[in-house]
This record gives sequence, structure tokens and C-alpha cells, in this order.
Amino acid sequence: MQYDVILPAAGSGKRMAAGCNKLFLELRQKPILIHTLEVFQQDDACKGIWLAVKPEERSYIESLLVKYNITKVKALSDGGAERQYSVNACVKKVKDRDIVLVHDAARPFITIPIIHKLAEVAHSKGAAIAGVRAKDTMKRVKDGMIEETVDRSSLWMIQTPQAFDFEVLKRAEQLAERDHFLGTDEAMLVERMGHSVYIVESSYENVKITTKEDLVFGEAILSQRIGG
Ligand code: CTP
Ligand code: MG
Repeated sequence: MQYDVILPAAGSGKRMAAGCNKLFLELRQKPILIHTLEVFQQDDACKGIWLAVKPEERSYIESLLVKYNITKVKALSDGGAERQYSVNACVKKVKDRDIVLVHDAARPFITIPIIHKLAEVAHSKGAAIAGVRAKDTMKRVKDGMIEETVDRSSLWMIQTPQAFDFEVLKRAEQLAERDHFLGTDEAMLVERMGHSVYIVESSYENVKITTKEDLVFGEAILSQRIGG
């Protein structure tokens, strides 16, 4: 199943507190952004990559694409103040596509089998998102006191990629923009249209590099995968 992917990369990495966009930090001497891009560059089913970037980082990112021979990027769009606006800027540029995935540039450890499963389910059902089962006991807390223990068997921790029939994603983005609705992921925009969204079981390795500890975890994953 062929697909295109939108990669929002226009954040500032506040929680990483590195003094720059965290995507420029390196794991094994390679920027996190490039690790993520290489997954899609190497996947033959991926036909195009659509990046959202900060205007002031555009030329640096363009130079990285050349340096690492990333050739599938179709366009770099200016990102917005919120992740959703960055994704929407890319959605507006994509034309005539069947399946489109949205994937955080900060999740470099996604694997091809999960990507392909998501694209397949999006093709048959319209919307599919990656997630893992909650591992810990979950409780609802109010004012420092437990209200209830939530049944964990129905709880999933949601990741990206999130994969969609492109018409479904486009419509969801248009309606969110019209209604000034800000969601926490693309699926939420699709859910509010009443469209079903399916889950694809992903991996605990597909972390979003967010804080300093995640860099240690990232190095460990790479050591395990490629040795050293
Ligand atoms: N992102 C984006 N535009 C924004 C905010 C985030 O394109 N306005 C991107 C980030 O670059 C990242 C992905 O969305 O690839 C997930 O966001 P997150 O992990 O929250 O990254 P940051 O927003 O950069 O980090 P923080 O929230 O700690 O500032
Ligand atoms: Mg953020």
C-alpha cells in the first residue's frame, strides 16, 4: 500500500531544554530528524515526505537533506505555533493522494511493519493510529485523592504514525480550522466528525524523544539494533 507522510518538525523542544530544536540533537552522530527521515526514505511504499519546519530553520534543514541524501521530500511548509497548525500547513499542500500518514519527527524508532499495517488499515477503514497497551495501574485522581481505579484493559497510550484516507484527514483539518478546534492528535479531529478510528498495536520502542532521559533510551535502542 503506497502512502505519503507528513512530518511535523517545527517544534522548539522546550522540555528537552537543549537551547535548539531537539530534532537537531544527535544519536550516534546523526540528527534525530535524519533518523526519522531515513525510515521513510528507505521504505519503497513511501512516495513522498511533507515537512513542516520553522522558517528560520528552513535553510539548515535543507542542507541536512542534501548532506544525508534524503530525496523524497516534496515540500517544506512553514510550521505554526501549535503542532496541529504545522500538520495543517502540510495537509494544505498535499494533492491527489490516497493514504497519508502523520508522524512526529521526534519518533525515530518507528518500524516499517507497523507503518505498513497502519497504511493497510487506513486504506480499508479510513483511519488507523498506532498505540500500545497501558502498562501501569491507572487511577483517576482529583485534588490529590484517588477517585477510582480505571479498568486498564481498555486503555491505550497513543503514538504516531496516524494514518488516514486523505479525504478524511483533509475534511477533519478543514472542520477543525473552521471551528477553531485544537486537538491533541489528528485522530481527535477525525473522531469529532463521527468517523471510526482503528488502533494498530505498536511498540514501546516507538518513543517520542521529549526529555533528556529519552536520549539515553534512544542510544540504548540503537545499540541493540545496530550493535556497538
Ligand atoms: N511540532 C511542530 N510544530 C509545533 C510543535 C511541535 O511541528 N508548533 C512537532 C515537533 O517538532 C515534533 C512533534 O511535533 O516533531 C511532536 O511535538 P513535541 O514532541 O511536543 O515537540 P516540541 O513541541 O518541539 O517539544 P516541547 O513540547 O517540549 O516544546
Ligand atoms: Mg510540543
